Amino acid sequence: MKPDTKPMIVTCGLPYANGMAHLGHMRTYVPADIYVRSQRKQGREVVFICGSDTHGTPVVVNAEKEGVTPAELVSVYHDHFLGIFGRMGVRFDAFGTTDDIENHDRTTDIVQKLIDGGFVYSKNIDIAYCPRCDRFLPDRYVEGVCPHCGVIARGDECDQGCKKPLYPGEIINPSCAVCKGPAEYRSQEHYFFKLSEFEGFLKDYLETLRGTDNAVNYAKGWVTQGLQDWCISRNMDWGVKFPGAEGLVVYVWVDAPIGYVSFTEEWAKTAGDSWEKFWKAPAGENGQESEIVHFIGGDIVYHHCIFWPAMLKGAGYSLPTDVVASGMVKIEDKKFSKSRGYVVWVGEDYLDQGFHPDLLRYYLAGYTSHTKELNFSWEMLQEKINSELVAVLGNLFYRSLLFASKNFGEIPKGTAEPAILERIKTATADSVKALSEYEFKKYTDTVMELASFANTYFQSHEPWALIKTDKEKCGEVVYNCLSLVKALAVLFEPVAPGKMQEAWEQLGLSGKVADTLYEDALVPPVPGSALGKPEILFTKLEDDRIAAMDEIAKKRVHLAMTEAGLITGEETRAGAVSGDIKNNGGKSAQKSCCAAGEKRGEKSMENEEQKAELLPEISIDDFFKAQIKVGKILSVETIEKSTKLYKIMVDVGEEAPRQIVSGIRAYYEADALVGKTVCVIVNLKPAKLCGVQSQGMILAADDGSGKVSLLMPDQELGPGSNIC
Ligand code: MSP
Ligand code: ZN
Repeated sequence: MKPDTKPMIVTCGLPYANGMAHLGHMRTYVPADIYVRSQRKQGREVVFICGSDTHGTPVVVNAEKEGVTPAELVSVYHDHFLGIFGRMGVRFDAFGTTDDIENHDRTTDIVQKLIDGGFVYSKNIDIAYCPRCDRFLPDRYVEGVCPHCGVIARGDECDQGCKKPLYPGEIINPSCAVCKGPAEYRSQEHYFFKLSEFEGFLKDYLETLRGTDNAVNYAKGWVTQGLQDWCISRNMDWGVKFPGAEGLVVYVWVDAPIGYVSFTEEWAKTAGDSWEKFWKAPAGENGQESEIVHFIGGDIVYHHCIFWPAMLKGAGYSLPTDVVASGMVKIEDKKFSKSRGYVVWVGEDYLDQGFHPDLLRYYLAGYTSHTKELNFSWEMLQEKINSELVAVLGNLFYRSLLFASKNFGEIPKGTAEPAILERIKTATADSVKALSEYEFKKYTDTVMELASFANTYFQSHEPWALIKTDKEKCGEVVYNCLSLVKALAVLFEPVAPGKMQEAWEQLGLSGKVADTLYEDALVPPVPGSALGKPEILFTKLEDDRIAAMDEIAKKRVHLAMTEAGLITGEETRAGAVSGDIKNNGGKSAQKSCCAAGEKRGEKSMENEEQKAELLPEISIDDFFKAQIKVGKILSVETIEKSTKLYKIMVDVGEEAPRQIVSGIRAYYEADALVGKTVCVIVNLKPAKLCGVQSQGMILAADDGSGKVSLLMPDQELGPGSNIC
């Protein structure tokens, strides 16, 4: 059997039914949807699966806080995500919940198979127990101190400190997250999955696993380092009952990926098809007779490349053939953080503001390569949309259709030039190849190049002049332009399905462009057939709209900072600092989670959060590691590439002045700064900001509401005076 005729299933990392959809989520769902649409355009049958991840402690804790049942909470967010997917054009064939009966049954079956296969053992371990609430405290119910780094930690991961997974019994000074009272450790029997036994299998399996390098290579590294067995039971009521163990449920990271299987069963029931052909496919000559493609973010690679295949193998199910992991999304170059306000909600901030879903789809696919971090800012969205979708693609569509409609009233007579058909053919082949390598940006770039070519063709043939001298020849030119427009509509539909359907109708074509195969891109329109009404497809995103969005974003950050009482950290001082001090006053030069390898083990629902808290105590020696001197500002220049930064020359009593890049532009006029006496950290590691070298940091204070003031001695002191 040829590999491309195997049944294919595509899945997406299941959203936690515990909060609203944000831009970070969309980086899993939109590219996956583009991929599925593109497979269908190649005539491939694909089933596209997702659903809500409903179990786990944060759902229960939040439901308790809001005075609703976990099921009620789940249902609100489940519906929310369904609505967002509909509006974003992400079309799943099934979208279940991990609390569906099918998932309870499938999880029980798989766990039982693992037990029967000898892959599960029990062991007594210390579990935090709250005597006041009279209950065991799984995961998020327990708070205390991380044994590795001493930072306050909750549950199963030191998410505010060293990021290490925390196993039951490890947290020091445990307390109960509900009543805040002290907790104690009690020994209890729990169940472990023998992950370590799968090392040999995983080594071989990972050699065959396709997908993105950030997934496959990290996973290989982890296996080489050795794998720890996983505790797969928890003390809770909410979840899938652990087979044969009263009072325990299955750990959420077991029943969540099993959702991929049970949602396929749900799809199969309605479609009258089989789920087994995907998940119980026998091995053929060239491997398993199904393809299972998982789209996820770089933060959950461990679960999908290590834990999940081991579980499937142990229970005798088919294995993932591709794991496609995206880089993480950042907002305004800041790590995604709901508590800090660095978040863009897909509903409230984007769709409800009247922005078209296809613009965001284009940005997510075409901004950078799929495995890299993706930075979002309203200005960059504006730039990309205006200079590409509006100026290139939209311009071509509108000018071609308008000209044809005005001058011919129908598709004019003509034949497509062989050179043009060749261009379309190459562009189609290049696009398909790009997606087979999960290169979404290459896909959009290829489409845009074809559109540029078409614009040049239109321009250089001057149909507006030809119409006056040789209408027939003009018709030929227009016919070729419309052939290109049709091809582009087909090629671009996976990225911009809504807009390309509009274009399809403007071309006077019937049916759905979504159902049109790539090979139809090469079939030029029929001369003499009617055209629809030409309309502008993409309009410029104007400055005032973008400025209004920026304003909303800024307010959100300030509100979040104020509410959290955050007065330390890069962002609050963002206006006033330079150098490379990072969150938590430089304590943890935080690695971004796009480096998927940093995070193994348990991903919590709130791991993107950075909560306000006092930093741990430091000694006076620690303080004196920073050398702070008085400096006099000699000159101030703006930095072209940035809207926030100044390049400042400061005399700190050395032979030559120091060059310091500082973000105080929003708070001080350049002229007003010259001559000021300021405080400067002079032994900070030099860093480049916007390509400009910075050799220190000027100190300032921020009250959290956007008011920023330089720290200055209250008497005139000579440059180089030490701050002690
Ligand atoms: N429930 C788990 C996945 C279980 S899969 C069996 C989860 N949920 S999530 O809501 O946090 O994320 C849903 C999807 O969005 C995941 O693929 C995740 O990797 C992705 N992203 C969530 N936040 C993200 C960013 N800030 N950036 C990029 N992708 C991120 O993880
Ligand atoms: Zn820690």
